[in-house]
Parts: sequence; structure tokens; C-alpha cells
Amino acid sequence: MEFLPARVDTNRIQPASRKTPVPVAAIETRQISKTFGSGDREVRALDHVSLEIRENEFFTLLGPSGCGKTTLLRLIAGFEAPTSGQLLLYGDDISNEPPYRRSVNTVFQSYALFPHLTVAQNIAFGLEMLGKPKAEISRTVDEMLAMVRMEAMAHRKTSEISGGQQQRVALARALAPHPKVLLLDEPLSALDLKLRKEMQRELKRLQIETGITFVFVTHDQEEALTMSDRIAVMSAGKPLQIGTPREIYDRPANRFVASFIGESNFLSATITAATGDVARVRIGGGIDMEAALPAEAPRSGKVTVAIRPEQVRLVEADAADALPATVTDTVYFGTDTHTHLLLDSGETVVARFQSTLAHSEERANGTRVGVQFWEGSVQVLRETA
Ligand SMILES: Nc1ncnc2c1ncn2[C@@H]1O[C@H](COP(=O)(O)OP(=O)(O)O)[C@@H](O)[C@H]1O
Ligand SMILES: [Mg+2]
Repeated sequence: MEFLPARVDTNRIQPASRKTPVPVAAIETRQISKTFGSGDREVRALDHVSLEIRENEFFTLLGPSGCGKTTLLRLIAGFEAPTSGQLLLYGDDISNEPPYRRSVNTVFQSYALFPHLTVAQNIAFGLEMLGKPKAEISRTVDEMLAMVRMEAMAHRKTSEISGGQQQRVALARALAPHPKVLLLDEPLSALDLKLRKEMQRELKRLQIETGITFVFVTHDQEEALTMSDRIAVMSAGKPLQIGTPREIYDRPANRFVASFIGESNFLSATITAATGDVARVRIGGGIDMEAALPAEAPRSGKVTVAIRPEQVRLVEADAADALPATVTDTVYFGTDTHTHLLLDSGETVVARFQSTLAHSEERANGTRVGVQFWEGSVQVLRETA
């Protein structure tokens, strides 16, 4: 009789002397679903959402209007209860804790300041509700005023300060009780572009300075890319991909992520070989390249690949290893130029070139060119259609 060694589950081996325990997530959602209404009018706002937000992280929920971002924040804050699933704060199940028992604060899109109170009184309000001693409140208010650079405005009524200043007060008020987690629901959307950019950097600074875990909601992809440690891209109540800004932009796993964040060219391709997370693909019936292969993507047959417009290179029309194409349109954007191309295969490609005065990639409509893609820029998508 043959002796078969028992299977060893390496995930379960815990060295006795392990010095750095696996850090517990600041927030963990386990299979959280939330439905509103019932019958014909049932809306599934969240659909089995499982994610982990790490301590000290600037974590962003990014997605179009109605995808469930606010609902997820309201669940974390305790303003709504999940229909099913669990919510953990530092490993403790808080699914049934009321909002005031959670070390979580929220900054709303509308700021929700008290207009008849001064800046300092607004910041002190939450601390007074918590019954903090007067001396501590006054010290914390001063500290918060300095942090958001509003010392000079301490005694102004909040109805008498600008939108950007109100935003700072709302932030100071939410940070004053030193919550473990700060939830921010599209806090910059009411500000004009220039102020919004300024506040983006300010928020990032505050997060680094305080070390508080930020869960930030936005529908603005640029805001998400520039501020976040990690992003969860959501659609229809589900996170479709979670990763660093670079992972999300360079390695979008599906068509929604590839087109919601930045722009992408989608081309049909055939996988000719696959090893681990790399595939060999034949694109547009003409060129063979290596491509990144995400988990759960097909490993053979017909697939769709995504390629960013800035990864497209134009060469001579008769060059080897290039897809023959015709220039159909050129659009000048100031910082860069988009060249629209029709491949001989019938598919279209957009190429983006940075504008420089010294060199122009512009070509007249009708020009015949060869299309190539930079090494490492080809991404296989999970769905084939
Ligand atoms: N209180 C509610 N009653 C009924 N439907 C709701 C309620 N809150 C949110 N919804 C629905 O749930 C979905 C997700 O909404 P929401 O979380 O506000 O999305 P987002 O913040 O991403 O725009 C939407 O279809 C919305 O209409
Ligand atoms: Mg919302």
C-alpha cells in the first residue's frame, strides 16, 4: 500500500516566534448587502461587499452616481444597518453598535455647520457633546484651528466665511474628537476647480499628519488617483477592483475600470500562451506581444485587451511588427494631441501624444501609418465581449 503524505496547508502554519503579527484591518466588511424598498421597488444598493481598509490608509471609494458609495459610508458610520453581512472595526463586530459608540466621524458634502455659531464654537460642539473638560476642549480647538490654518477666523460666524473655509471648519470639527476613522462623502464637490485642487493637497496633508484612517468618497477619477493609497472602483453596488492608483490605472482588470479611470483602447486579441500572470497575445490579427493576465481572466482563445492611448506609437506604414492603419482625425487639447486611427482590420485606436514645441506627432488625415504599443502596456481583460 502506498503512503501518501498529508496535504500541508501552508496558510495555516504560524511560526511560534512571529514578530510582526498580521495587522488587523481598521475596517472590514464581510459580504455586506443593503437593499432598500421591497418587491418591484427593491433597490440593491450594496451587493455582497467584502473589503478591508487598513489602519492609516487613505482609502477611496470611486464610482459613478448611484453605485452605492454613500450607502457604504452610512453603514460604516452606523446611520444605516446592513440587510446582511458583518462590519468590523479593528476586529470587533460593530454591526449592531449605534453611531455614537463607533470611533468614526463623517464629513458631509453639505458641511452641515451651525451658521449661528462661530468657527471655534462649531469645532467645540462635538467635544462638548462628549462631555470633555473645558480646558481640554479649548486646547483641542486651538490645535484644530492651527491644523486647518483657520486661527485668524476663530471668532467669525460660519455664515460669514467662504466655501473653502467652511470646508476646513467641517474637517476640523470632524477631526477634533480624534476618531479612529474619518469618513468623507464627496467633501470637495461643492468647491470650484482651483480651490478643490488646493483642498485635495490639504486633505492629504491632514491625513498624513493625523495618521487617521480616511475613507474618502468621490466620483472624480483624477481626485481618486492623486490622493489615495488604495482605491476601490465600484459599480452597481460592488467593488470591481481594489488596488493602488498605479495598479488600477496600469492594470485595469475589466472594461468598466479601464474606461471609468482614464481612457482605453479595446482591441480583440487571441491568447497563444499563458504562464502565471503573463500571456502571449496576437493583437488585431497582426502583432504578437506579452500582456498582463489578471486572475479570473480567460487563459486561452479570444479575449479583449486594453491599451492606454499614451502607450500607442506610430511608425512607418510598412514597418514589420506594426498594425497598418490610416489617420482619420486629430484633436488638439493643448497639453496633448489625440490621433484617431482606423486599423485595416476595422478596429479603431486613439493615440495620445504630449505636445512639445520641438517635435510634432501630428499627421494629416488619410496618412498611412503603422501602429505599435509600448512594451508592458497590454492588459488582458476579464470579460471577452
Ligand atoms: N434611503 C434610500 N431609499 C431608497 N433607495 C436608496 C436610499 N438610499 C440610496 N438608495 C439607492 O441606492 C443606490 C445607491 O445609492 P448611493 O449609495 O447614494 O449611491 P452613490 O453615493 O454612489 O451615488 C441608488 O440606486 C439609490 O437610489
Ligand atoms: Mg453619494
